[in-house]
Amino acid sequence: MSKKKVLVTGGLGFIGSHTVVALQEDGYEVVIIDNLSNSSLDVLGGITQITGKTPEFENIDLREKSAVKNFFEKHPDIDGVIHFAASKAVGESVNKPLLYYENNISSLVYLLQELYKNDRANFIFSSSCTVYGQADELPITEDAPVKKAESPYGNTKQIGEEIIEDTCKTKPEFKAISLRYFNPIGAHPTAEIGELPIGVPQNLVPFITQTAIGKREELSVFGDDYPTPDGTAIRDYIHVMDLAEAHVHALKRLLEDKEKKNYEVFNLGTGKGNSVLEVVKSFEKVTGENLAYKIVGRREGDITAAYADTTKANEELNWKASRSLDEALESAWKWQKVVQKREEEDI
Ligand SMILES: NC(=O)c1ccc[n+]([C@@H]2O[C@H](COP(=O)([O-])OP(=O)(O)OC[C@H]3O[C@@H](n4cnc5c(N)ncnc54)[C@H](O)[C@@H]3O)[C@@H](O)[C@H]2O)c1
Repeated sequence: MSKKKVLVTGGLGFIGSHTVVALQEDGYEVVIIDNLSNSSLDVLGGITQITGKTPEFENIDLREKSAVKNFFEKHPDIDGVIHFAASKAVGESVNKPLLYYENNISSLVYLLQELYKNDRANFIFSSSCTVYGQADELPITEDAPVKKAESPYGNTKQIGEEIIEDTCKTKPEFKAISLRYFNPIGAHPTAEIGELPIGVPQNLVPFITQTAIGKREELSVFGDDYPTPDGTAIRDYIHVMDLAEAHVHALKRLLEDKEKKNYEVFNLGTGKGNSVLEVVKSFEKVTGENLAYKIVGRREGDITAAYADTTKANEELNWKASRSLDEALESAWKWQKVVQKREEEDI
């Protein structure tokens, strides 16, 4: 049987690149589309180092409808699509909503339009636990209601899911899965690839590693008066390699016709919540570093706690997150040191 060919959009980004590794290691042939707006061509080298294989790469901006059309004319043999490409900075989306609606919605529509021309589509969408807002019950199941989005970014995920679901309703052969990620962290254990935040990181772990390496003065812990055991906010931190592997499971479900409905939604998390201070302590323990941090006021829009009920993903996707928080933080630190070394060599 010939190898299945998968298009990975945003495949040079953080989660995309780790997923490309997982796909290639599982024998898939990968074609990446990325416009390098939040990534670098060096990532291709990292993927090659780990897997011994360089994926095909097309520098395409998915906002260009004709480029998307040309891509599918050139690659009529795509078996599945994993769509990571999007803009993802929540704060930026509040100031530049149209940029987010254009990039995250137009690109999705253009991709779906091309796929819709075929008899069959296997589509996986990067969604987020942000669709649940502050859920009324924890852990969060896929049945928890979607709450009004707190930001244009969050709204693009909700609208994106609706667009896909509406499309699936019209054609049974059009099959899709939305994966709602909790908080992806860490890097590949080889430290050949990892997260490359541009500017000041919005997420906890890159901020921690950048502080520990001396790039930031101190970590601000936003609020210690939440109704949680230590007063800091709780999230479900999932190792990016666990997340990457879940995509391979989701893709197989579609390719092997194992899905129960032609549109499905899964939470991807560990099922366990950790507070900000627990993450800081775990980081200090595994790295031996002392982290400078201060408690400041709550950040607007932040919720108290979110962690996944992973039963559905565990049972239906036959997948379970297996890596620990310590392991994830250790890999993030190893990666930060590589990034630092590269930056110093560039100077
Ligand atoms: N990282 C997280 O915490 C998180 C959480 C939930 C959901 N997500 C979603 O997962 C996906 C991947 O996230 P990530 O953290 O890997 O982000 P990332 O920014 O590292 O990767 C996205 C990639 O898409 C590319 N891209 C963006 N717009 C494009 C366009 N118009 N055409 C072609 N390429 C384009 C970027 O250059 C980048 O390489 C996104 O859809 C994001 O919203 C991320």
